[in-house]
This record gives sequence, structure tokens and C-alpha cells, in this order.
Amino acid sequence: MKKHDEVDKILFSQEQLEKRISELSVWVNETYKDEKEPLIVVGLLKGALPFMMQLIKGFEIDCILDFMIVSSYGDNFQSTNNVKIILDLDRDITNKNILIVEEIIDTGQTLEKVKKILLARKPKSLKIITLLEKKIHRKTDIFPDIYGFEIGDEFVIGFGLDLKDRLRNLPYIGTYKIEKQ
Ligand code: IMP
Ligand code: MG
Repeated sequence: MKKHDEVDKILFSQEQLEKRISELSVWVNETYKDEKEPLIVVGLLKGALPFMMQLIKGFEIDCILDFMIVSSYGDNFQSTNNVKIILDLDRDITNKNILIVEEIIDTGQTLEKVKKILLARKPKSLKIITLLEKKIHRKTDIFPDIYGFEIGDEFVIGFGLDLKDRLRNLPYIGTYKIEKQ
């Protein structure tokens, strides 16, 4: 696969991503194998889409796919109210097992709000799976139940991760090439 011009270095190839994600599917199968009700898999659009689509291919459990779109307003707005739901789940989650699927956790602020909103609806359980874990900027006590890969202080693109909504389609994850002056 030819590297995109704006990619500096490929961190995780398509093959590496697929291999690790199949291990994550095994974890999901193991975690929910004794549950009677279908697992509600909640993808946070748009970034989680490629990860979620690969992850569910390995599911042997019964599941229902659902999606949310949330938008973050940033830190200069009231901290209790800075995530707006643009698209909500299309079903009641009371007493259901919920697995939130994210492509990356950075500060954790988005997920902290989403978790609070969903917990208020009294699910039976709520777990978080993320493809990338970027602990270095964490400002909350939000941590995933499992993650694919840990990365350092770098901006990454591809496989759902975007730069101003572009480059999500790349089949690998790479670092963004910052133009030298
Ligand atoms: P958080 O609320 O700070 O955890 O932000 C999570 C969101 O920030 C992710 O869903 C991504 O959209 C975005 N994000 C954080 N780091 C990166 C990155 O390295 N590349 C692309 N998007 C990122
Ligand atoms: Mg995003």
C-alpha cells in the first residue's frame, strides 16, 4: 500500500490492525458469552466506524449495533455541559449490556460525558473499548476496559482518525507529516 503524502510514518499497518482487532473480538466474545440479552454495541461516529466494522466481524455473540454522534465544545464552555448529542441511540438501554466503541481516547472528556449520559439510563453494564489509548493527555479518570494499542504524544490519522474530517479512509494508522518551514 502506497503511503499517503501527508503521512510521515506508518505506525500500524492494515495487517497489524486486523490481527490486534481480532484479538479484541475474542475478548468481547469471552466477556459477554454468558449474557442472554444481545450486547448493544455503541459506535461513536464518525471516527469509530472502521474499527467497529472490523471488530464485529469476529463476534460470535448476539449483538445490536447502534450509534451516537456527539460534538465537543472545548474547555472554554461550562464543563458540565460541553458535549452535545447530535444523534442519539434509537432504543432504550435500561438493563442492557453496553459496549462503547471509540477509535482513540485522548483527554477522556468526550467519553466522560457520554458515559455519564448513558449511565443515567441505567444499563446493566457499560464497558469501553478503544483502538488507541493515548494516556499522556488524560484529564479524567476515564480508562478503557481494553484497548488495541497504546500511543505516545503524537497526532495520528487513518482508519477512522481524522485531520479536520479528512483522511479517515486510510486503511492504516500513521503520524501526520508536519510541514517543515
Ligand atoms: P478526548 O475527549 O480528548 O478523549 O478526545 C477524543 C477525540 O479526540 C477522539 O474521538 C478524536 O476525534 C480526537 N483525537 C484525539 N487524538 C487524536 C489524534 O491523534 N488524531 C485524530 N484525532 C484525535
Ligand atoms: Mg473524533
